[in-house]
Amino acid sequence: MPRQIITGQKIADHVKRLGDLYPPIPLDTVDRTILDPDAVKAKFSYVLDYLARVELEVDRNVLELLVLLPDVDETNRMFYADVWQPQEIQHGLILDRLQQDLDMPAAEPHLDVSAKIKMLGALAHFEPIQQVAKLLYYLTGASTERQAVLAYNQIHAGLTDLGERAIAETIISPIKQQEPGHFAFYQMSATAMIQAGELKPWQLFLARVLRERSYGLVGTNAIDRYKADMGAVIISLGMEHGLEEYAREIGRVESRLLWANDQGMDVPSYILKALRESIELYYERESRGLTGAVAVR
Ligand SMILES: [Fe+2]
Ligand SMILES: [Fe+2]
Repeated sequence: MPRQIITGQKIADHVKRLGDLYPPIPLDTVDRTILDPDAVKAKFSYVLDYLARVELEVDRNVLELLVLLPDVDETNRMFYADVWQPQEIQHGLILDRLQQDLDMPAAEPHLDVSAKIKMLGALAHFEPIQQVAKLLYYLTGASTERQAVLAYNQIHAGLTDLGERAIAETIISPIKQQEPGHFAFYQMSATAMIQAGELKPWQLFLARVLRERSYGLVGTNAIDRYKADMGAVIISLGMEHGLEEYAREIGRVESRLLWANDQGMDVPSYILKALRESIELYYERESRGLTGAVAVR
């Protein structure tokens, strides 16, 4: 448990500061000069395609939020409507433009709200369930935003190594600056709920069960094709051999808030499992491609 008490006021101030500091990035401020398109594609085509899609799925994430949290308060509303959605959609549009510059097909965001979310949403009209849904929503946000932070750091380093300064500095760098603030919002919001003791033991128990059963890596949407794509992203970013450390990073908030009393849950096992599954699905798909069977991509 962190030393500091996170108050509602602190979270509201954070959201306001993010809005003031980071207006959405206008498309015409970026320099899309690419020195060696083939080299960029060889190294980052999977990653750019994946991130462009996921960022463009922000509109579905907003719908999910409204389904899960029908009684959303002003701070949450201000975050998703005035800060998060406007920033993320620009990330998506800019990355999608960049991948089309590289002669790659445009992203196809998956915009349907899943049946699972709709079901949880129906239950969320019952206040104690809505509190559980809210905690899970914040934990999901913290984990996915942390994945975004790590991915953009890696891409920035990789593009700099390739000498692609224009896109590293005018695209990835400003995007990368905006992600930690999103992470902090979710982390603070989840922490505040636990610190204030908002959930009863049975609600925390339910949150743990649901989390273990439904955890998904960013953008995988519980669909195997996207999980395999995520496997390719992990490999492209050079993180295949540090999965345990990666799982620890992206699961830090929930291991502290949900599993603090559990020995050995320093790396949530369901996160490690999701990472391994993605990589396996990717290799499986690749091997099918090599043998001439149906290649998905
Ligand atoms: Fe983003
Ligand atoms: Fe983000």
